[in-house]
Amino acid sequence: MKIIAYICIMEQQFPYCGPIGVFDSGYGGLTILREIRHKLPQYDYIYLGDNARAPYGPRSFDVVYRFTLEAVNYLFRRGCPIVILACNTASAKALRSIQQHDLPHIDATRRVLGVIRPTVERLGDISRNGTVGILGTSGTIRSKSYDMEIAKLYPGFTTVSQDCPMWVPLVENDEATGAGADYFVEKYIDSLMDKNSDIDTVVLACTHYPILFDKIRRYISPEVNVVKQGDIVADSLADYMMRHPEMERRCLRGGTCRYLTTENPATFTHLARIFLGQPVDVEHVDL
Ligand code: DGL
Repeated sequence: MKIIAYICIMEQQFPYCGPIGVFDSGYGGLTILREIRHKLPQYDYIYLGDNARAPYGPRSFDVVYRFTLEAVNYLFRRGCPIVILACNTASAKALRSIQQHDLPHIDATRRVLGVIRPTVERLGDISRNGTVGILGTSGTIRSKSYDMEIAKLYPGFTTVSQDCPMWVPLVENDEATGAGADYFVEKYIDSLMDKNSDIDTVVLACTHYPILFDKIRRYISPEVNVVKQGDIVADSLADYMMRHPEMERRCLRGGTCRYLTTENPATFTHLARIFLGQPVDVEHVDL
């Protein structure tokens, strides 16, 4: 008992350092990682894709929470002082519970950050008329996380949502540039814009969607802003590091990045090249 208490006190006084963890259900978080590494190249990173269990979008609240918690615990075991949920579905369904209920028991000195709040914070600068369209997975849309966060920060705004259940499978199956993708991109965009023709800003509220960006842009009027999250999350992390030097000090500075997947590393390597524009070494892990 005494030894455990001693370890706990030591851990609080000299919390150990490690890489920044970036988690997504699959490949989507790579669109966030790429921008984070561009903005903050000095740190070490571990990217974890739970490809064996992706997509998370159609899964229930409880399952997404359980899978996300397993991933966070895994990244903590690998030494990450900060884990970023680079996944809207996980941020919508698991972030708050993990921050409020799990972190205090697991290790109150570590941090888990999401992508929804930073994205919403920026909408005030981007939207001209306060009518914002949200495109996301069924899980993110059903959670109403964006509606709630926007109502909190910008009470005068109108939020219009559309789930796009076929977009993640198209990306995960390397079909993002195929003709089949055009059909489903046009279908969901039309469905969103038919709900409210005043929409002047559309948020790609799923980290997989930037891979479909060119097609999405083709079917949305040029006057409408299309918001990708990568640079927003990167800016927000840079700002977080400045405001929290005690956490910044715990992030190792070697400029490295390791890639982990719960699926087949060879498949991950192939698709990761589409997201990152370069080949990467990938390790298989079980959570
Ligand atoms: N990339 C994830 C997101 O941002 C979701 C993908 C999935 O459905 O697993 O929501």
